[in-house]
Amino acid sequence: MPPPPAALDAHLAEELELLDAAALRRRLFPIQSGAGPEVLIDGRRYLLLSSNNYLGLATHPALRAAACRAIEQYGCGTGASRLIAGHLDLHAAVEAKLAAFKGTDAALLFPSGYQANVGTISALVGRGDHVYSDALNHASIIDGCRLSRASVHVYPHRDVRALEAELAASAPGGRRLIVTDSVFSMDGDRAPLAALAALAEQYHSWLMVDEAHATGVLGARGAGLAEADGVSERVDVHLGTLGKALGSAGAYVAGSRALIDWLVNRARSFVYTTGLAPAAAAAAGAALDIIVAEPARRDALARNATRLRAGLRALGFDAGGDTHIIAVIVGDTRATLRLGDALRTRGVLAQPIRPPTVPEGTARLRVTPMATHDESQIDRALASFAEAGRESGVLR
Ligand SMILES: Cc1ncc(COP(=O)(O)O)c(C=O)c1O
Repeated sequence: MPPPPAALDAHLAEELELLDAAALRRRLFPIQSGAGPEVLIDGRRYLLLSSNNYLGLATHPALRAAACRAIEQYGCGTGASRLIAGHLDLHAAVEAKLAAFKGTDAALLFPSGYQANVGTISALVGRGDHVYSDALNHASIIDGCRLSRASVHVYPHRDVRALEAELAASAPGGRRLIVTDSVFSMDGDRAPLAALAALAEQYHSWLMVDEAHATGVLGARGAGLAEADGVSERVDVHLGTLGKALGSAGAYVAGSRALIDWLVNRARSFVYTTGLAPAAAAAAGAALDIIVAEPARRDALARNATRLRAGLRALGFDAGGDTHIIAVIVGDTRATLRLGDALRTRGVLAQPIRPPTVPEGTARLRVTPMATHDESQIDRALASFAEAGRESGVLR
């Protein structure tokens, strides 16, 4: 007889030790303030370069006020899934606003972007169908593809030729869905949306674009990369999150009325979950008004990102991407942790990103300025990077 398995805690302790030994163990640390340009940790202020609160809206007075009003009117929780008794007129109003913002017939709120991706992909394709997914898509897209049971074709990052070869070689029959991040979350580069739309049309495929990191940030009205690239109408499924530039929590899918009605019926992560909290929905609604009315926030973010990326490159860092997300690629996991620690000692929070979030050998700091940083803060960050780079051995 084989020996009995170890008790759960003993087993997990061993696994955690292995993570420690590989420098891959992650830990939570509590932040004592809102996601401003600086945050408070253990009573000390840190310059925050790891937040997706790109436009600084998470702490904006208009969002706070909208959230408070919603709590006064509806309470803190919806108390049920949307299809049972958790659908508020507030949800309907924010969905209508999102649809107008995205230029679609309809939109649907989800409690998170993770749920929106998992639920939408698995509602659109299934066994016998095909889904084509960029190799660097977000984990929630990967999980949605897996959960769908469709044949998953992972194409090399942004490689339109390889995607075309996959589309051409796929067995005929079944539905086809191409899915991509618009701005890639860990690399800060952009999907070739026009080329993907052309392939989708040529190969009778649907196109789904996750604008989690572009909503509020790119495009003349802040509607995302599809807007910036002039391809909005060629995208079948628009997805975005409310917890990043919109400063709230939750997510949306926008598209045709039929798409939204289908998701209401078939997206399990929508059907079987409690409706988005009133405060989150209301704050997102308030954020949309600011995003459309204040393009200067997008300009400030772009300026800060350009200054920071150029400064990092001038120091000798491998600072990739061409958006507000700057991937400072180090490669070695331990060296990446050393760089992060050395920055933290200097009062700068730029979090290391390690495998499995990014491919083996590409550990990095994911550096994200905000619209609300001023020039002196960006310059202070650069001075700290110069010192930390040398101290950690990442810069020679
Ligand atoms: C591209 C992308 N899609 C989806 C998500 C998930 O969104 P949420 O945090 O709302 O679950 C994220 C990040 O969190 C993301 O980067």
